[in-house]
Amino acid sequence: MNIKITPGAIQSSDADTIVVNLFEGAQPGGATEAVDQALEGAIGELIEGGDFGGKADQIAVLYPHGAIPARRVILIGLGPREEFNVDVVRRAAARVIQKARELGAGRVATILHGAGAGGLSVEDAAQAVAEASLLGLYDYRGQKTDDAPESAPRMLELVIFDKKDVPAAQRGAGTGRAIAAGAALTRDLVNLPPNICTPAYMAQVAIEMAEEVGLRIEALERKRMEELKMGALLAVAQGSDTPPRFIILEHNGDRVDELDSIVLAGKGVTFDTGGYSLKSKEGMGTMKTDMAGAAAVIGAMYAIGKLDVDLHVVGLAPAADNMIGSHAYRPQEVVTASNGVTIEINSTDAEGRMLLADALVYAARFEPAAVVDIATLTGACVTALGGVAAGLFSTEDGLRDALLAAADVSAEKLWPMPLFPEYEKSLESQTADIKNNGKRGSGVGSSATFLKHFVSYPAWAHVDMAGLATEAQDNPCVPGKGATGFGARLLIEFVRQWAQ
Ligand code: BES
Ligand code: MN
Ligand code: ZN
Repeated sequence: MNIKITPGAIQSSDADTIVVNLFEGAQPGGATEAVDQALEGAIGELIEGGDFGGKADQIAVLYPHGAIPARRVILIGLGPREEFNVDVVRRAAARVIQKARELGAGRVATILHGAGAGGLSVEDAAQAVAEASLLGLYDYRGQKTDDAPESAPRMLELVIFDKKDVPAAQRGAGTGRAIAAGAALTRDLVNLPPNICTPAYMAQVAIEMAEEVGLRIEALERKRMEELKMGALLAVAQGSDTPPRFIILEHNGDRVDELDSIVLAGKGVTFDTGGYSLKSKEGMGTMKTDMAGAAAVIGAMYAIGKLDVDLHVVGLAPAADNMIGSHAYRPQEVVTASNGVTIEINSTDAEGRMLLADALVYAARFEPAAVVDIATLTGACVTALGGVAAGLFSTEDGLRDALLAAADVSAEKLWPMPLFPEYEKSLESQTADIKNNGKRGSGVGSSATFLKHFVSYPAWAHVDMAGLATEAQDNPCVPGKGATGFGARLLIEFVRQWAQ
């Protein structure tokens, strides 16, 4: 779907579908009032008759019968004015575009929800509407061979009453487009089956994307990982015939002297059987999504490149399969990570932290101002937070707060969790520096504490996004089935805020 900015009055638009809104319990004002007048009070009548109260997500369709050029008017509720924020705009825009698709609309013209009475800037409102409309239309067809049931509108016009606001709307729409494209790339990678989305495939996608937006890219193969002594990552990878990759994406790699460096690292386990600490068939059933952290980093880097954010940003995606077989690593083996720390394996199913260990060591070479890793790491985190928010661990309060602020704006929720020194105890090993798995009952905290052994810079944060990669609930911006794209928009917002 194309998005363009159109100056003018919405009631004069010749799009087939126009969109206006209403706060809960309010009377029509601004553009909604203008449309109501053109329709001789049809909107007011809906309100007075009790058919439409403006509750969030409430939707009504009106037919003007020639009173205005449009064939139909979609009226969307914004909920109570006191609860209004940018996420309300996104939800409204996504809900509307889905309704428009259902109705077979071809060209939709919408006002910018929140830019008037809501108090949002034109730029922010345009970003939210563009971003959410594209996010809401996301559709994964995978390897289906039949035709899609319904086709999306081909054009969305953001109608700006005041001509002087056009440049701001243009900027906002551009930002929204880039962010939605990043999230869609993340969703595509997570949705793909594990026989297609291998580490080499992820690297190929990263290479093509990097060429498109001008990022530096490297995809290290096994031999180079051996030279770098990435013994933790390689221990996981050795069990599979599918070779690993260590993907390195870099934005503004030529300006390291003048810019802060931020490193984003994502777990890229393209399938997690658990290895010899084998998962149950139920547990294994969703493990193609165990590369969602890496996918979030690749999607975020796509948008960061498109938006040309004024920071040096590095995206690391260590990618490998966790399999069984005669080459697979086993419990009680001891391996050495690239910083020399020795690890006793007591669960081959605690594989994500092995990949991240070598990635966190690699991150140090960039002398980063901050490192953020993101991973579908522990079922314990899903239990703790119910799949509603990702767990956030950080060694630095400023970084923690910056991530919480980004979570607030992106509505990809984070909840702070502790790095208690007591967790160290559960990682003590008789044969190596540490074990890769703590004792029962400290699953989330001990996994984060494990990762900390590979961190040598002051500001590090770990996001445990287990349970958030798929099946979002009740958000029109996020498909209810399949990949959510969680993490991409959070990381993009975090990086954009850091650059300001
Ligand atoms: N990929 C899983 C974590 C996971 C579980 C993600 C459920 C999404 C949904 C991870 O590699 C894993 O197996 N974790 C183990 C850790 C344990 C062995 C220390 C777990 O959570 O059981
Ligand atoms: Mn596992
Ligand atoms: Zn895993």
